[in-house]
Amino acid sequence: MAQNTTIDQKVDSLLSLMTLEEKVGQMNQYNGFWDVTGPAPEKGNAATKYEHLKKGWVGSMLNVTGTEEVRKLQKLVVEESRLGIPLIFGFDVIHGFKTLAPIPLAEAASWDMEAIENSAKIAADEAAAVGLNWTFAPMVDISRDARWGRVMEGAGEDTFLGSKIARARVKGFQGNDLSQPNTIAACAKHFAAYGFAEAGRDYNTADIGTSTLYNVVLPPFHAAVDADVKTVMNGFNILNGVPVTASSFLQHDILKEKWGFDGFVISDWASIMELVPHGHAKNLKHAAELAANAGSDMDMEASAYVTHLVNNVKEGKVSENTVDDAVRRILKVKFELGLFDDPYRYCDDTRQKERLYHEEHQAGVLDMAKKSIVLLKNEGNLLPIKKDQKKIAVIGELANDDNSPLGSWRIGSDNNTAVSVLEGLKKYTKNISYAKGPKVFNSDANFITEVTVNETDTEGIKEAVALAKESEMVIMVLGEHGFQSGEGRSRTELDLPGLQSQLLKEVYKVNKNVVLILMNGRPLTIPWEAENIPAILETWQLGTQTGNAIAEVVFGEYNPSGKLPMTFPRSVGQVPIYYNHYSTGRPGAQPTVFWSHYSDEKNEPLYPFGYGLSYTSFDYSNLKIDASDQKNIEVSVTVTNTGKIKGEEVVQLYIHDKVASITRPVKELKGFQKISLAPNNSKKVIFTLTDKELGFYNHNYEFVVEPGEFDIMVGTNSQQGLHDSFIKN
Ligand code: BGC
Repeated sequence: MAQNTTIDQKVDSLLSLMTLEEKVGQMNQYNGFWDVTGPAPEKGNAATKYEHLKKGWVGSMLNVTGTEEVRKLQKLVVEESRLGIPLIFGFDVIHGFKTLAPIPLAEAASWDMEAIENSAKIAADEAAAVGLNWTFAPMVDISRDARWGRVMEGAGEDTFLGSKIARARVKGFQGNDLSQPNTIAACAKHFAAYGFAEAGRDYNTADIGTSTLYNVVLPPFHAAVDADVKTVMNGFNILNGVPVTASSFLQHDILKEKWGFDGFVISDWASIMELVPHGHAKNLKHAAELAANAGSDMDMEASAYVTHLVNNVKEGKVSENTVDDAVRRILKVKFELGLFDDPYRYCDDTRQKERLYHEEHQAGVLDMAKKSIVLLKNEGNLLPIKKDQKKIAVIGELANDDNSPLGSWRIGSDNNTAVSVLEGLKKYTKNISYAKGPKVFNSDANFITEVTVNETDTEGIKEAVALAKESEMVIMVLGEHGFQSGEGRSRTELDLPGLQSQLLKEVYKVNKNVVLILMNGRPLTIPWEAENIPAILETWQLGTQTGNAIAEVVFGEYNPSGKLPMTFPRSVGQVPIYYNHYSTGRPGAQPTVFWSHYSDEKNEPLYPFGYGLSYTSFDYSNLKIDASDQKNIEVSVTVTNTGKIKGEEVVQLYIHDKVASITRPVKELKGFQKISLAPNNSKKVIFTLTDKELGFYNHNYEFVVEPGEFDIMVGTNSQQGLHDSFIKN
């Protein structure tokens, strides 16, 4: 408190010295795509930016990294601008900077908050070592639509899990003391409902009701704010007709007023400019007015504020108080980062040399990668493979790829730095032969271009099939390219791209002992594979340590414990599909067609939310509910490891509020615990349900807890578990 008072006072006294132009300058963020270490740019956009930096008309830069680069721009501003207010340097550090952790969706599959926090901490450590002090992460958008490519960047479909992960990531990036040289400010994005883009097409319209907004979309943002996230990013989408960048309801009323968020809001990339094509603003000047009045504090790369906000204030369209409020928020974060004490705090060449790719980071992301793997199927205990297994065929282009498994959203990283699956597996045995199979992806695929897929050239299939035939078992590595998910990467099909399914089917004809290793950035529709292939591992894109993590799981050094954070559909037609849906008035099968179903597909998913197997087995018994203390309802269950090896299990608790003024979903996750059990050992797992878990938001955004009967399910995934119920008075 004392520290904040001092910071607030410092902010106020600095603000009192600033001209309107300088204030607006703090609200301006520029992209730094020019050689900042070279001579000062003389022409074009870069020259304008350079001049603005010198005048103190820039509050932040994005996409400038490296101690030398950051130092140079910081020096320019600190030494040449009138007030020398340091810049804050932002960057998309989504799942690591150089050392890459698994993609965020994969990490969510670990349900392990400590590991996730540690992963964010590693990312912050490396980012801070290259001069950065702010990441545009975590993305906390809930999404139920695997067609949307950005599901790879979030925590999946569930609000409860997503909120816990939001908190863990914010804590990991920001640590306990933001002024430390290895912590950075976090940014919860994209506020709000970006993950509800219609038909899963990126940047598309979101149109959702208040119940979904308040109960599903907003809670992870609220959790991030409660965890003291320093910044929030708005988004590209419109929500119920209003572009979120111009939404005063979201940014002002909810975020700042209702939740008391005291950090600042950054626009998404030129999203203020996009108010024009959205048909909401007449021109850029009008857009600047609308965004500023709505509570967007900083303008990312649209130049809307720096060009028009001063005039908007002079013309009375935006009040100077609004500008002051934004600037206060921005300066406060800069003070908290310690940038006024030492603007070069993050420009330590020794740290830059020592921290990137540090061995501690390798160990951390390896741990995270193993925990992110989900065992989807293991018929006849085909996995783990014995180390003395003879003649293993490894098949698939992705098996020998050291780039794609790094995943999307890794703009600070170096290409080809992943341990490939083949490399990882070969550390355990010499009995491996490799066949690439047909070409799948263009090898020069990158972050900004479309990935192309070979659909016609079957060369390589024959050779792979021949190898499979003479082998005792086959490991197939199939899936999506790392750049097939991420921003701007929506798909209408969710199957294995290109000729991969054909390859798999032909291999399976000659050898049934197939382990399928999936690599993908989103849930896939793989009904044939799920039906026929005996063993399937979902490995997502696991980052730098991919091959090592997968090899440990394949050879049984590590017993998988991941659980799906997103439902796997049977077919794209089921999407959006999610476990916490409503019942409908016609949920059950009827003798006629008049019930809620498809005529050509089941309603059920292929793999439900929360699903994942282990090399051991767990038994659930003894579910008990003690509702005598209505404020702390205790639910307990006994979990026993009934298999032969030690394993971890994520014990999941779901509630169903059976009758409510606003219909509640058929199930809602309200608790989970990850436990470790030796064979034949049992553990009593206890959950406490308070009003916080039992209530919901009504249409007026009031939190209500209604009396009545609640069903409880505790189990191993969102479909299987023990049931009981209690009455809430
Ligand atoms: C994305 C943001 C990102 C920003 C800056 C935008 O296109 O939507 O999530 O932080 O670019 O790179």
